[in-house]
Amino acid sequence: LSTASAASSRIGDLVDVDSGVISRDIFVNEQIHKLELEHLFPRAWLFVGHASQVPNPGDFFSSWMGSDPVLMTRATNGDVYVLLNSCRHRGMRVCRYDEGNTMQFTCPYHAWSYSMDGSLVDVPGDLHGVPHMKSAYHGRLEKDKWGLVRCPRVHNYKGLIFASWDEDAPAFLDYVGDFRFWLDNLADAFDGRAGETEVFRGVLKWRIRSNWKFVSENFLGDTYHGASTHASVEAVGIGPGGRGNRRHGERQNQGGFSKGRMKTSFRLGHGASDNLDYEIPYPEFAEPDLTEYFERAWDVRAEKLRAEGRALGGRGPATLFPNMSFAAGFPRSILVAHPISATETEVWRWFLVDKDAPDFVRDWLREYYMRYGGPAGMTEQDDMENWDYATQASLGVVARRYPYNYQQGLGEERLSDLDGAVHSDHAIAGEVNARAFYRRWAEFVDNMSWPELMNVAAVDDRVAKIMERASEVEA
Ligand code: FES
Ligand code: FE
Repeated sequence: LSTASAASSRIGDLVDVDSGVISRDIFVNEQIHKLELEHLFPRAWLFVGHASQVPNPGDFFSSWMGSDPVLMTRATNGDVYVLLNSCRHRGMRVCRYDEGNTMQFTCPYHAWSYSMDGSLVDVPGDLHGVPHMKSAYHGRLEKDKWGLVRCPRVHNYKGLIFASWDEDAPAFLDYVGDFRFWLDNLADAFDGRAGETEVFRGVLKWRIRSNWKFVSENFLGDTYHGASTHASVEAVGIGPGGRGNRRHGERQNQGGFSKGRMKTSFRLGHGASDNLDYEIPYPEFAEPDLTEYFERAWDVRAEKLRAEGRALGGRGPATLFPNMSFAAGFPRSILVAHPISATETEVWRWFLVDKDAPDFVRDWLREYYMRYGGPAGMTEQDDMENWDYATQASLGVVARRYPYNYQQGLGEERLSDLDGAVHSDHAIAGEVNARAFYRRWAEFVDNMSWPELMNVAAVDDRVAKIMERASEVEA
């Protein structure tokens, strides 16, 4: 597809997930990127930040929703708001700090001032103290119409703050469906207390020269890359995959993965890549006090989940469509891939910890997180290098004529007990999640309506077709 014709073609034509073939253009083409900014990001539910980042009235955290800068704030009434960080007068960014606490946002350009819920409260005067509301606007500026643009849909899921610009978007819980079990494992305390977690220290932020979808795809099901991409940390026995002893005292309990890593893809494009029934999600520690702490917490949680008839697993890695990825259970970390251009992404990483975790647990987690996650971590660098080189090698005129292959595990899917979900049981193989993700992506970018996007019967029909094909392959 040439750049010129990109915008006029059906995006779905570039994403042939039934054959497992996807055009490289969706990862490098700026016009397609513009379409996803217009049709996907302003409609989908996006992760903005964590409520624990704004515990007190006046607290704010600067974030992004697609191409738009936003402020997550705590107002005096205690509610969390998500506001467009752009002055209603001439568009100046009213707040240029990453986070903090303030009485109000005063625009640096002409000083329009907004409260934490976005209301325009004042149009301050000049240096001589003459109020501009009076002298410049003759009292006729309709303050109630010119507040900061407030995001109409905000959902606090156990401290995780999600927002959508689309009034017509389905309720957040309908949007996530049964994928919420993974969100629970992310947001609940290690012993299962609902939402008793908080953000641990600052947010890591860095840029990569690659499309944001590389990141989402990696987390939603690419366990395939581990053995090759992360071979060096695995070879010396210190990788998060956990083969053998590690120098730093943590060793992954392998019992949990005896059935292999199952992929689960959901009708709305979310995906996770572990199974729901493994037992112990934490590593073995060299330090007995850590083992004791996690063992005790896990016993409480396991009992609670069993009593509720819930599965014990659901750790991830996983991606909530479109761009919030995370590892749940142990350790717990959120990663958002903010789109900058077709070939540039700003990655943000939050780390979570139980609110009442003692200092020795926090210290251990801090070191663990620094060691593996982020641009200086031992595993994240490996991934970034692949995404960067893959992007640069896909940009060429000839390279772009040849699509990527997503055929792994095609026809091997099986139905899940989870609502609208499909599994693939292979320990490593299986790109079922990626195929579902890109199908959903194409539907959004083609501007499919919400009733069509949420049409359960249509998706079930599609799932039935996948299963039919799977049984043919078996025969
Ligand atoms: Fe904000 Fe003018 S741009 S007050
Ligand atoms: Fe990786």
